[in-house]
Amino acid sequence: MAASTHNQNRSWTLKERPPGLVGPEHFNWVTSPMPEPGPGQILVKSLYFSCDPTQRGWLHAEGGYIAPVAIGEAMRAGGVGQVVASNAPGFEPGDLIQGTLAWSDFVVVTPGAGLTPVTKVSKDYPLTWNFSVFGLTTLTAYFGLLHTGEMKAGDVVLVSGAAGATGSVVGQIAKIKGASKVIGIAGGAEKCRWLVEEGGFDAAIDYKTDDIALKIKEHAPQGVDVFFDNVGGDCLDAALMNLKAGSRVVICGGISTGYASWSAPEGPKNYMNLILHGAAMKGFLVLHFMAEFGKAMAEIGQWVREGKLKVKETVVEGLENAPAALQGLFTGKNLGKMIIKVADPL
Ligand SMILES: NC(=O)c1ccc[n+]([C@@H]2O[C@H](COP(=O)([O-])OP(=O)(O)OC[C@H]3O[C@@H](n4cnc5c(N)ncnc54)[C@H](OP(=O)(O)O)[C@@H]3O)[C@@H](O)[C@H]2O)c1
Repeated sequence: MAASTHNQNRSWTLKERPPGLVGPEHFNWVTSPMPEPGPGQILVKSLYFSCDPTQRGWLHAEGGYIAPVAIGEAMRAGGVGQVVASNAPGFEPGDLIQGTLAWSDFVVVTPGAGLTPVTKVSKDYPLTWNFSVFGLTTLTAYFGLLHTGEMKAGDVVLVSGAAGATGSVVGQIAKIKGASKVIGIAGGAEKCRWLVEEGGFDAAIDYKTDDIALKIKEHAPQGVDVFFDNVGGDCLDAALMNLKAGSRVVICGGISTGYASWSAPEGPKNYMNLILHGAAMKGFLVLHFMAEFGKAMAEIGQWVREGKLKVKETVVEGLENAPAALQGLFTGKNLGKMIIKVADPL
C-alpha cells in the first residue's frame, strides 16, 4: 500500500455492507487528491482513531441511533486530529481537535457539537488517553456500574468482556468503590492472567475453556449483586444462574451476537431467575448520561492522578490496518482500549 504524499489522501471507503464478521474485504483502499476546506471548514490531519464495536452498527443499511455509513463513504470513526488549514473562527493550524472523523489521512470537517478542541482534562496526558481512560468507554463503565447497576460497597460484582476497554474499567471502578469481590469473564489465559495480576480483579473466568456457570458459583457461592454484561449469550445465561436477592443485571452490550444484524439475536434462556431473586435487568446508553459527563470526568481524573485507575491500550499502527483493527474487536485481539495510530502530531 502506498504511503501518503503531500497532495494525496488515502482512505478506507465502504465497499459493501458486511453480512457477518466485518473485515478488510468490506472496504476499498482509495487514493484521492488532498481535500480543501470550504468556508467555515477546517482541514484535519488524522492522528488516532478510536475503535468501537458500535462502528459495526453504523454499517447496517437500516441504521441505528445515528445514520448508517453510505456505500462509497470513508468509514466514520471517533478520532483525534490536528488542524492543518482553517476557514473557521476559533481553529488555528496546529490545534488538536477530537470528534467524529473518518478513516482518511486528511478530513475536511465543519466544527460543531461533534468536534471540539482536545479536552482540558486530558491535555497533560498521552493523546490516546482521550479514547481510553478519558473516553466514552470509561464513562460507559462509570454510569453503567454506579447508576444503572446501583453498585454499593460490599457488593459482589461480575463483569463479562472484562479485559476490554469497558470491562477492564468496570472492574477497577468496582474495586475503588469498595466491592467485596470482583470477578471478570474474558477469553483466553493471557487475558485472565492480566485481569488478576494487573487489572486488580479478584478472580477471572475463561469463557472459552471454563464451565462459566460453575466457575461463577465457585467464586461467588452466595451469588452476585451486580452483573455488568458486555457480551450476552452464554455469559448472560451463566450469570442469570448465579444471582443474589435484589441483584442488578446491567445490559451494556451484546458483542457475542457480532452485531451482524439488529434483528432477532437469541434471547437469554435463564431469565426466570430474575423472578426467583427479585432481580432487575436494565439496559442503558452512555449518551443518556451526557449531562453528567463533566462531573464523572472530574472523579475519573482524580482516580487517574492518584494512580487508582490503570490505563490499558492496544494500539494498532497504520491507517492501512484500520479494518483489521475493527475486526479484532470481534475476535478478541485487544486488551484494554483498541486504538488505531495514523500519525504523530506535527
Ligand atoms: N451501552 C453503551 O452505551 C455502550 C457504550 C460503549 C460500548 N458498549 C458495549 O460494550 C461492550 C464493550 O465495548 P468496548 O468498546 O469496551 O469493546 P472491548 O470490550 O474493548 O472489545 C470487545 C471485546 O469483546 C470480546 N468479544 C468479542 N466477541 C466475543 C464473543 N463472541 N463472546 C464473548 N466476548 C467477545 C473480546 O474479548 P475476549 O477476547 O474476551 O473475547 C473483545 O476484546 C460492547 O458490547 C459494546 O457494544 C455499550
